[in-house]
Amino acid sequence: MPSNNTEYTIEPATRITRLPPYLFGRLNALKLAKRQQGADIIDLGMGNPQDPAPPLVIEKLCEAARDPRNHRYSASKGIKGLRIEMAKKYARKWNVDLDWEHEVLACIGSKEGFSHLCLAMLGPGDTAIVPDPAFPIHNYGVVLAGGNVITVPLGNDQKFLDTIAMVSEHLFPKPKLLILNYPHNPTTMTVDEGFFETVVDLAKRFKFTVIHDFAYGETVFDGYKAPSFLSAKGAKDVGVEFTTMSKPYNMAGFRVGFVAGNRQMIDYLATIKGYYDYGIFQAVQIAGIIAMRHCEDTIVAQNEIYRLRRDVVCEALERIGWSVEKPRAGMFVWTRVPDEHLRGKGTIDFAMDLMEHAEVAISPGGAFGENGEGYFRIALVENEQRLRQAIRNISRFLQEKPIRKAKAPK
Ligand SMILES: Cc1ncc(COP(=O)(O)O)c(C=O)c1O
Repeated sequence: MPSNNTEYTIEPATRITRLPPYLFGRLNALKLAKRQQGADIIDLGMGNPQDPAPPLVIEKLCEAARDPRNHRYSASKGIKGLRIEMAKKYARKWNVDLDWEHEVLACIGSKEGFSHLCLAMLGPGDTAIVPDPAFPIHNYGVVLAGGNVITVPLGNDQKFLDTIAMVSEHLFPKPKLLILNYPHNPTTMTVDEGFFETVVDLAKRFKFTVIHDFAYGETVFDGYKAPSFLSAKGAKDVGVEFTTMSKPYNMAGFRVGFVAGNRQMIDYLATIKGYYDYGIFQAVQIAGIIAMRHCEDTIVAQNEIYRLRRDVVCEALERIGWSVEKPRAGMFVWTRVPDEHLRGKGTIDFAMDLMEHAEVAISPGGAFGENGEGYFRIALVENEQRLRQAIRNISRFLQEKPIRKAKAPK
């Protein structure tokens, strides 16, 4: 047996070595160190909902967890009742007609489904178009599958669509996949009715498929209704859409997501998942049915919480002289750091400084891609008072007045 010493090196698979460096690593290490020293870090880094899941869901989860029939392996595709409920939700909310059996599949969170769909669709030599900046798994999923990423600057207008057409026309081999995400993480960019019709036309013209990540489709404010990719005519011919229970119902830890749309793509994903997993804990799936059936009011109430937090952050930033556009969807504020504050530094170093001296954790734009450089993302996951405090701390730090030092732990 080889001993665990430094002379014996175990090489990972090439797919691991192809991954770009994990840019949140330094920030996470500093956060941990600061907390160990007793600092009260206001953590606005990750979009991890802190509010509770609906009480009805918890009751059902506990009841279902007591039933031994739910202790067995479940169905990898998700149980029938859950998939039917999702199909009904699509019909109710986005006027999309789905066959629950062939066009809806449950995943262990949408991130799992997305990554495995990349594995089912891409291999060495295949390419996918990913806008920059992007939610990191949109790049890593392609790389881990062995494919190559073609980056295009993120947009939501004709210029963006023209770039996709240009890349699809001139690139060899032709891109196989286009990965989209509106409302967008990290930038909160949204699209209006009609956008996805053009995407479908392009997909048919250049013969690529589309994956739309609709994780924030229900986190909307000010009367905005985010269009579903699947509501575009012909969308099911060319692609799929991922949704999640993590954000609208505060069920991030439950790990329930869905993919819906093109039946061939869903079938490929089901094949991969059939080999890899035995499905989500059945009690969780049953609780998920209850959420979709009875907890629409949770979404409305949660959106109001995010809207108020958004206003607090945007107004506080404006007061310190930053110009911010209020997002109409998502759980983030995305803002440009004025150059005089960056002083030539990258946003990752700027975020390290904020953690060290202002005791606030934010996500640096540069960690989401080159085009995110110069920006940072604030996740609206703390209450209004803490958010105000965070902006005050940032402001004080920028005026070079370090905040009061936290006491070291006893
Ligand atoms: C754009 C986007 N897609 C997917 C996810 C992951 O969702 P899930 O919890 O369903 O895996 C997130 C989580 O932050 C996200 O921001």
